[in-house]
Amino acid sequence: MKPGYVIVLFMVARFSYLNHLQCSMCHRQYAADQLQTISPCCSRPLLAKYDLAAVAQDVKRDEIARRENSMWRYHELLPVCEEAHVLTLGEGMTPLLAAPRLAPPGLEKDVRLLVKDEGQNPTGSFKARGMAAAVARALELGASGLVTPTAGNAGAAMAAYAARAGLPAFVVAPEDAPQACIQQARLYGAEVALIAGLISDAGRVAASVAQQRGWFNLATLREPYRVEGKKTMGFELAEQLGWRLPDAIIYPAGGGTGVIGMWQAFAELRDLAWLQSEHLPKMIIVQAEGCAPLVRAFEQGNTVMEAWPSSQASTVAAGLRVPMSIGDQLILQAVRASGGTAVRVSDDAMMEMVRYTARSEGMLIAVEAAATLAAYHILLTTRFLTPEDETVLFFTGTGLPDIGNYSFSM
Ligand SMILES: Cc1ncc(COP(=O)(O)O)c(C=O)c1O
Ligand SMILES: [Zn+2]
Repeated sequence: MKPGYVIVLFMVARFSYLNHLQCSMCHRQYAADQLQTISPCCSRPLLAKYDLAAVAQDVKRDEIARRENSMWRYHELLPVCEEAHVLTLGEGMTPLLAAPRLAPPGLEKDVRLLVKDEGQNPTGSFKARGMAAAVARALELGASGLVTPTAGNAGAAMAAYAARAGLPAFVVAPEDAPQACIQQARLYGAEVALIAGLISDAGRVAASVAQQRGWFNLATLREPYRVEGKKTMGFELAEQLGWRLPDAIIYPAGGGTGVIGMWQAFAELRDLAWLQSEHLPKMIIVQAEGCAPLVRAFEQGNTVMEAWPSSQASTVAAGLRVPMSIGDQLILQAVRASGGTAVRVSDDAMMEMVRYTARSEGMLIAVEAAATLAAYHILLTTRFLTPEDETVLFFTGTGLPDIGNYSFSM
């Protein structure tokens, strides 16, 4: 008998199961293997789609617990295709902490209140997650330089990951953006342009810089992968709660990528049958009284938002000074489909809640993060939430950079 060959066919598990991109409006499909911006068909965000059937077959949910303690433990559901292309500073797997003393006085014993402390991410905010994913993917697809408009934290995060990638970076921010974030971006080696106006104006400048230099623009939802990094907040929440989800999530929305990302995460987890129950949280967004275009659209029953007049957009929370979001439909859809709501809070309430959080639980948070606690107190008063509703506040950033903004009487 002649020696024969036995051909053994086996599938090698892939690092990422990214399949294609999809227009968030009309669902037309686009290739994921080249740099993409917004959808050419509808000028709307492109969302990443994965081969979930293959993930379900190849990945055991409980295997994830044994993986590294960063957001890359969910790599099959992230867009970076080669393991060697991951850029990490240790982002993700932030603590989920019980914080009962953040309840209104008298309710400490009754509330089921948790906070996700995103200030512990590299660069000091949850923006690290989105930028870690988007910068790594941009590098993987051949970007030669990176640009972003920013309210502050996103620019600092992009600059850090660009440094890690060895790519040049250009950040465009309103001139009143937090000094600490601007200095941070500069220290990471980015060029920074400060402009008169809001983040929407910075967006126009960033787009033209990207075009002139042939660099890639990472503006919120104008490329598909920052939202993928933010999605990991939803995965972690589920994993940290034993693969179930809370009753409510409160998130401070500017451009709103976190809401869109988490809602995507929950849909993927449900499709993978990784959740113990089908129960999804109420998605609650909070904005500042001085710039609340999403809240206004929600209250008026609209499916899209009207831009907040730039001349009137004013709040101490730089990350919430966002007059328009290209993700408006996706955000409003998630809030409504989940049975959530939208709340506006005053600057005074946010500042007070920064102090309250520091004093009551030893957590130093950004004003944007404090907006979630102000909203929680309002929603208990209006009885939209009860103390028994397990509620997670997204503390999106550390308060350390803003520490000089608070005065103390001796
Ligand atoms: C600390 C903080 N929280 C919340 C936000 C709002 O995030 P998004 O624009 O993703 O809704 C920002 C944005 O800059 C921020 O810096
Ligand atoms: Zn379309």
